[in-house]
Amino acid sequence: MDSISIVVLPGDGIGPEVTRGAVRVLEEVARQGGLSLEVEEYLVGGAAIDRYGEPLPQEVLQAALDAGVVLLGAVGDPRFDSEAPARRPEKALLTLRRELELFANLRPVKTYAELADASTLKREVIEGVDLLIVRELTGGIYFGEPRGLETRLQGRVGFNTEIYYDFEIERIARVAFDAARLRRRRVDSVDKSNVLESSQLWRAVVSQTSEDYPEVELRHILIDNCAMQLVARPRSFDVLLANNMFGDILSDEAAMLTGSIGMLPSASLGGMRNGGRVGMYEPVHGSAPDIAGQGKANPLATIASVAMLFRYSLDRDDLAERIEQAIVRVLRDGFRTADLAQPGTLTVGTDRMVEEVLKRL
Ligand code: IPM
Ligand code: MG
Repeated sequence: MDSISIVVLPGDGIGPEVTRGAVRVLEEVARQGGLSLEVEEYLVGGAAIDRYGEPLPQEVLQAALDAGVVLLGAVGDPRFDSEAPARRPEKALLTLRRELELFANLRPVKTYAELADASTLKREVIEGVDLLIVRELTGGIYFGEPRGLETRLQGRVGFNTEIYYDFEIERIARVAFDAARLRRRRVDSVDKSNVLESSQLWRAVVSQTSEDYPEVELRHILIDNCAMQLVARPRSFDVLLANNMFGDILSDEAAMLTGSIGMLPSASLGGMRNGGRVGMYEPVHGSAPDIAGQGKANPLATIASVAMLFRYSLDRDDLAERIEQAIVRVLRDGFRTADLAQPGTLTVGTDRMVEEVLKRL
């Protein structure tokens, strides 16, 4: 049997700690499922700047393009905070998204009953939350031109461009509608069409696309109202469709519904290849430099991202579910990393948490 290549990019901060554990889960589950994997690891982000002087060396990008399946830890390092965007660790992530054409970012947000008290929100508000953020990932203000920092006659200016083509909106809308079909059949499309032309086009194209999905109920919601409803009535959402910037912000907000951003996985998907999707899988949390190297980071978001990798790129729902159930069992059995600690639970470090997941696979 041919082996499947997977590129692993641990990155910065807690990235290497959580990725190390997630790769153990990846390898164990692949073994159980009769898949043969070839895992290649490379430096990216600040770690690559230190070694090679750039956040995403060509060789690393090429490996990711060849494999088409990437597991990433986190990038970001405060040492580079004053650098221009092009020279920062985050640039690696943005280039990978663009070059692999990962236009669809899926961020499922599901409250684990066991963690309902770890949230800053009331249990009765967050219990039963199960939503999916579908975020456009290769367009909008993140990539729009012109952009820059300049000095003009009146003073210094910084500027960016929010721009969307109709085809970019349509293809991400289809991802949202397709996902909704398999869920509770409702899409809330987020925009700021009372102020922005790019949002007016967004709303029009999403409405038009929805005509192909009569069984899915579409609502349009303004971003500011959406931010409010997300904490007031989070259960009212099924699929949330958003542009790059709004999706970025809403996903951090939604993370708090689950009690910790340390629980949230994500998949960034592109086109089909060899029966699976080109995809990059990463936790929603960042590099958390404040706790890096202390062995206390929560590996569950990265492990849950491995589950998404099995589901979307390897077309193995069975193995994805095996991992997701192991996570639920670990929580049910009372194991918590520091970010989730509650009275009466057992606080464990990263490696122990990984061991406990492995035992329950
Ligand atoms: C995310 C992150 C990234 C983003 C950063 C690190 C560039 O916040 O994946 O949500 O803004 O997309
Ligand atoms: Mg973000």
